[in-house]
Order: sequence, then C-alpha cells, then structure tokens
Amino acid sequence: MSDAKRRVAEAAAELVEPGMRLGIGTGSTAAFFIEALGRRVTGGLEIPPAAATSRATEDAARKAGIPLVDMMGPNAPRELDLAVDGADEVDPELRLIKGGGASLLREKIVEALAARLVVIVDASKVVDRLGAFPLPVEIVPFGWASTAHLIRDRLGVEPKLRQVRGETLKTDNGNFIVDCAFGSIADPEAAAHTLSQIPGVVEHGLFLGMASEALVSDGHDVRRLAPA
Ligand code: 5RP
Repeated sequence: MSDAKRRVAEAAAELVEPGMRLGIGTGSTAAFFIEALGRRVTGGLEIPPAAATSRATEDAARKAGIPLVDMMGPNAPRELDLAVDGADEVDPELRLIKGGGASLLREKIVEALAARLVVIVDASKVVDRLGAFPLPVEIVPFGWASTAHLIRDRLGVEPKLRQVRGETLKTDNGNFIVDCAFGSIADPEAAAHTLSQIPGVVEHGLFLGMASEALVSDGHDVRRLAPA
C-alpha cells in the first residue's frame, strides 16, 4: 500500500500554490506528503509557516525544511487555505474516521480552520459505511473508566483503552484514547453528537462535513472523490 500512499501524497503536494496557508496531517500517508512538500519547498516554493497536527509531524516537517507556525502561541492561524491528511476510513459522503495515529484532536483543531481539506488514502480506506475501523475517542485521564462506562452505556460499544507496548498511550495532549469497535455506524452524526455530550470526552475521530475531496489510489492511478 505504500505505493498508493506515496502517489496520493505526491498528487496532494502538487495542489500547493505559493503563499498557501497549510495544515499538515499525521500518519504514514501524511509523511509522504511532508516529504513531497519538503522537496517543493527546498526547490523554491514559498509558503507561510504551516500548522502541524502532531509532534511527529512537527519533527518530520522541520527535517523536510517546511516552516511551521507555533500552534501553542498567540499567532496560531484563524484560517488556512488547505489541509492535507490521511484517514482510517472514508465513506461515500466523505465522512471520515480518523485517529488511528492518536492525533485526532490536533487534526480536528487544525483541519476545522481549513477552507479545503483534501484527504489522501489508499483504496482500502474507502468503505460503504463507517465503523469497521474502531472509532478512536480522546478522553481525559481523570475518571477515564467512568467516561468509558458512559460511552458504553450511551452507545452500546465496548471502549478499549489504547495500549502501546504494554503502556497506556498518552496523546500529544496528555490524554488517553479509547477505541470503540462499532462494527458499523448507522448514524455517524448521532454518534458524534452523543459522544460530544459525554463529560471527559475531549474529541472523537468522526470528521463529518469537513473533507472537501479525497484522493484515492490503488498504487496505479489516483482518482478524486467528491462528496456524494
Ligand atoms: C492519525 C490519523 C491518520 O491520518 C490515520 O490514522 C491514517 O494513517 P495512515 O496514513 O498511516 O494510514 O488519523 O491520527
């Protein structure tokens, strides 16, 4: 799948025009985008400092020579022209599940600022209905088990605290992730609303009404999907 990821990432890097204010996503597909954008920037493309969606992306962007804005400071942008990011699932309405890389909160903050969000995925991520990929939900550590109980009671799913190498994963924001295996999400908007009402839930990985288009590749061609 890395050929497919590289192809869509390179196609997305070609969308960047001089002066564009960018948001840069996180993950293995976004990493190819960072490499391709970095080549353009070191080749002379001039862009203002971009917004990175994770510490990993900050590190990769710096190495690639891409200037970054300080998202912790007062000059964090109010709007962006273009954000480019991967996804874990994309449905025909371009609703997304994101957060497989645990960066969903920063991704949502940055991508909500973008006039255009281009999603870059290999063809395996395109689904008829969201939910086979367990939905990541970022929750605060205080009372995490209580929050997980509420998620289970209100949504009928079993949230699983994400572990990495035997340790509870902490996000870049110091929070935990619970992965919620729905199997299939019949009504993503209702699930998103229910999750957002639960105290302790910081953000969920349903990105609804945000993507403008998706670039999809099976490793050969790149096709463009617009919302159904
Ligand atoms: C990170 C994400 C990623 O975009 C998503 O997990 C896809 O990753 P990859 O490009 O490595 O398949 O949402 O939080």
